[in-house]
Amino acid sequence: MSETNYDTMFGKIVVDQGLCTEEELLKCKKLLEEHDPNNPTTLENLLVNNRFITTSQAKRAKDAARETKEAASHIPGYKVFGKLGAGAMAIVYKGKQLSLDRTVAIKILPKRFSENPDYVQRFYKEGKAAAKLNHNNIVAAFDVGEAGGYHYFVMEYVEGKTLYEDLAKGKIFSEAEAIEVVMQVARALAHAHARGLIHRDVKPKNIMVNSTGIIKLADLGLARDASDIAMAKSEAGKAFGTPYYISPEQIRGEIDIDARADIYSLGVTFYHMVTGRVPFEAKTPSDVMKKHLKEPLIPPDHINTSLSAGISEVIEVMMAKNKKDRYNSAEELLIDLEAIGKGEPPLRAHKKFNIAELEQLQMGEDIDLEPQEKTYDQETIAKYRTAIIVLSSAIAILVLIVMFLSAGK
Ligand SMILES: Nc1ncnc2c1ncn2[C@@H]1O[C@H](COP(=O)(O)OP(=O)(O)OP(=O)(O)O)[C@@H](O)[C@H]1O
Ligand SMILES: [Mg+2]
Repeated sequence: MSETNYDTMFGKIVVDQGLCTEEELLKCKKLLEEHDPNNPTTLENLLVNNRFITTSQAKRAKDAARETKEAASHIPGYKVFGKLGAGAMAIVYKGKQLSLDRTVAIKILPKRFSENPDYVQRFYKEGKAAAKLNHNNIVAAFDVGEAGGYHYFVMEYVEGKTLYEDLAKGKIFSEAEAIEVVMQVARALAHAHARGLIHRDVKPKNIMVNSTGIIKLADLGLARDASDIAMAKSEAGKAFGTPYYISPEQIRGEIDIDARADIYSLGVTFYHMVTGRVPFEAKTPSDVMKKHLKEPLIPPDHINTSLSAGISEVIEVMMAKNKKDRYNSAEELLIDLEAIGKGEPPLRAHKKFNIAELEQLQMGEDIDLEPQEKTYDQETIAKYRTAIIVLSSAIAILVLIVMFLSAGK
């Protein structure tokens, strides 16, 4: 039995949303091909019968696809064509902005976002800020709005692929190639940070390469929901996607997230590109997050021994657990990236390492020496004090006994 268009779309959505793996989908596609044509079935049935997805997951995926497509086709001023892709939470369609006759990408957010007024407010605020950005390495934001209860985000259409597609195939980037990609993203971030926008979700799926090889950072200005973190920690985390690239301070739920969180996530992406694997892997999203917080990083040149010390050092500084030990800004990072690109040492990273070491030394002194000296002094004083009290009491008793005896005579 052959696969229908509906099967293809359904299969893509369930894999994109992390409900089943690519292998599980392929297995069912094969079963579908071999299935008796006199007894028709669907890919959806096979995925459910093989327990790769549940009936309710299948229903939710179907409903989301149908409803968002319906909402997208009612956005005034736009004509919607087909689906470009789906993430863990949203579906992206290709469309046309009729007034300007230009091709665009339209991202439709899930309905649950509309239920949180704080989020909706931030969605419009960040959307407006993003529309003011103008940079060759940033996917331009064109419009935000609501249709049929769904909020949408209209952006520049990028004809190309995401960095994730290459990494998922197991590609390991050469140093020069990886430095070039990271530099273009760092330039995009420098532009956005200077205008007060922090991305908060830098990762290979949000880094696109267009047909002319230019890097485009996507989803800038798409306000993220703070409850995403809570969701990732919970069972529903399966649909959220594993937080391989998230910074420690975002995991801790800190509110003053700054440029350094994006530098951390770009560091993880850099690590993935040159080693072929993410630095912290675990079975559940919450275990991955624990590792970001606590587990020391295996230096990238320990995994790919052909890497230069310079690139490894830059990645380690980008990924320092304490944001104080990272590059302060994307500009500062760019100086080191340019240096290692030319085969020169990353001087800023050296300095950061020295400062971190000095701080550790100072902390060590504080902890090891001072408190010990203080405790010793106090203990000695206490001992002397007790000895004096005991001694004087003994003398007093002795005097009393002598007086008592002499009075008796
Ligand atoms: N501006 C765009 N132009 C062309 N295709 C796009 C554009 N933005 C997104 N896409 C495609 O749509 C897919 C889904 O994007 P979306 O941002 O919803 O999720 P994601 O970034 O892949 O993953 P996640 O949901 O985990 O953030 C992308 O992987 C990409 O293939
Ligand atoms: Mg995205």
